[in-house]
Amino acid sequence: MSDLKTLETELLAAVEAAADLSALEEVRVRALGKKGQVSGLMKGLGDMAPEERKSYGQNINGLKERIGEALGERRAGLEAEDMAQRLASEQADISLPVRVGPLAEGRVHPVSQVMDEIAEIFGDMGFSIAEGPDIETDENNFTALNIPPEHPARQEHDTFYFGGQPDGSRALLRTHTSPVQIRTMRKEKPPIRIIAPGRVYRCDSDQTHTPMFHQVEGLVIDEETHLGHLKWVLEEFCKAFFEVDAIKMRFRASHFPFTEPSLEVDIGYAKVGDELRIGQGEEWLEILGCGMVHPNVLANVDLDPNVYQGFAFGVGIDRLAMLKYGMPDLRAFFAADLAWLKHYGFSSLNVPTLSGGLSS
Ligand code: DAH
Repeated sequence: MSDLKTLETELLAAVEAAADLSALEEVRVRALGKKGQVSGLMKGLGDMAPEERKSYGQNINGLKERIGEALGERRAGLEAEDMAQRLASEQADISLPVRVGPLAEGRVHPVSQVMDEIAEIFGDMGFSIAEGPDIETDENNFTALNIPPEHPARQEHDTFYFGGQPDGSRALLRTHTSPVQIRTMRKEKPPIRIIAPGRVYRCDSDQTHTPMFHQVEGLVIDEETHLGHLKWVLEEFCKAFFEVDAIKMRFRASHFPFTEPSLEVDIGYAKVGDELRIGQGEEWLEILGCGMVHPNVLANVDLDPNVYQGFAFGVGIDRLAMLKYGMPDLRAFFAADLAWLKHYGFSSLNVPTLSGGLSS
């Protein structure tokens, strides 16, 4: 009996002394495990007289129970201590700002964003995207567009020329996106419906002109397209682009060698403080040139002007971006100024869609 008492005292002390959960588990195995001390005592029962066996057995069970209870209590205590310690050491400060990755930090240039917006709008109307090179031939940039050598329109373009070739030809930096009309009509059969966004170059620089800027050309050729279609397409474009249903537009007679008749389009706006309000007020700003493709241009690309007709337009993208997003100085577009880009640029995840709202 006193053996049992001693063992109990010893085991209870060991339980109490266990400093952590794994030490406690060792005590449990040592006491109550299959080969543990208490199980060892059970083995002796077989040799005892029945009376003795009964009371000794009861004592062992009592011991077992008390040790089990002590183990349970100690385990609960240790677990609570453990939890308290983890709560103290694993604190997260949820008031800290999220660390931003490069994808969230980078910005899409407003010109790229506006090009995507334009592509989205015309894509919805069934136009596809065409491209041409920045370095063009004189033929594509001028002659085929009904601007022959010595034509006064050539002077207006302030062209950057490359050195002359032995055959007398000179390559140039395209002065507008209109040569993509020529390339497209030479390559594809009507019906044609394309837009061609890209860089263009003119030897000019002040607050509203930079030597490189951006245009988007539009071209539709088939057998029955007329001026009414042109007007509708441009109205729909302006409404969608400026996200204003009540857009004010003015079509003015103009002159371009490659269209007949030719028109220029102005957008009505009001200036309230520094802000431009599109669709209100009495001010007008020219945003594009357009017209019905000149029969000479069709003939130059071997399309019969008696069969085919269509319209074309050319829009200044930088100017559209300035108007829509209220950026006053064109030169800032090309200054590679990070602060400016952070302010006016767009998140790369902000992909313009008509369904989602172009600029939202
Ligand atoms: N290419 C002209 C320019 O850069 C703009 C233009 C006017 C394009 C009328 C066109 C058009 O396609 O029909 O000034």
